[in-house]
Amino acid sequence: MSLERKDIISAKQFSREELEYILNWAIKIENDKGNYAKSMQGTIMATLFYEPSTRTRLSFESAMHRLGGTVIGFSSSSVSSVKKGETLADTIRTVAHYSDLIVLRHNNDGAATFAARCTEIPVINAGSGSGEHPTQSLLDLLTIQQECGKIDGLNIGLIGDLKFGRTVHSLTYLLANYDINLFLISPHSLKMQNRVMDYIQGKGNVKIKETTNFIEALPKLDVIYMTRIQKERFPDPEEYESVKDTFKFEKEYLDLLKPNAKIMHPLPRVNEISSQVDDSPHAIYFKQTYYGLMMRKAIIGLVMGVFK
Ligand code: NCD
Repeated sequence: MSLERKDIISAKQFSREELEYILNWAIKIENDKGNYAKSMQGTIMATLFYEPSTRTRLSFESAMHRLGGTVIGFSSSSVSSVKKGETLADTIRTVAHYSDLIVLRHNNDGAATFAARCTEIPVINAGSGSGEHPTQSLLDLLTIQQECGKIDGLNIGLIGDLKFGRTVHSLTYLLANYDINLFLISPHSLKMQNRVMDYIQGKGNVKIKETTNFIEALPKLDVIYMTRIQKERFPDPEEYESVKDTFKFEKEYLDLLKPNAKIMHPLPRVNEISSQVDDSPHAIYFKQTYYGLMMRKAIIGLVMGVFK
């Protein structure tokens, strides 16, 4: 099995076998950090971020530095020639001469697919509009496996903006490879999109329950995956106002949880989880950001063909 020279565009591209392979690599590198500290020496990664980011960009960059490689890029399109009207295609063709792999975040759903067609070097989708965020879902899967000790058999709840949230789209695609019970919990207007539902139903492994009742579902869940309502994707600001505070995890809800239940969030959180929950042993959303570093090290080394 090899991911060498492959683009990472969609969580749909991975088989269960490949997922196990990637997760095993992330753990292997973590357990032997010193040995991998120079793996990427001489390799340049470009991070092209047309949308805001804290964790995704910095964890990719930190991962590359920790593997001995170097990083170029921009963190806002306003400081690049995009501001002058340059197309994505022209930017990608140019940056491909300056780097060995490209990590791209863009506001268009199809941007990563398009960018990958413009160059021979690997392109990694770091978030494409409200479409997908495959590397976030890989780190989420790693977090679930490591913190729950397994993936099969779990009751996993995805809560919040399932319509516009790209992290939950990609995570659903990955979870389609496992025998789990998936609780899709959202306001009616922010339900999971049909194309994602069709995919997961087609795979046939997952039992799905859609509900608007957050509190009722909580005692059943092993994983509570909270998400932010994606304000920037709403065509109508009034519609955002009407749903923005639908689900908030309050401190008193901790009493409803199974003893080993884990609360996750891709972050940034706005209002979805009270800060009073942060000290609970159920809360693993900051630990989850560390799994992000582990996963991105694995992804970089695997697509560059140095981990094999
Ligand atoms: C997410 C994103 O950008 O899609 N953040 C992240 O990458 N961890 C989630 C969000 O913005 O709500």
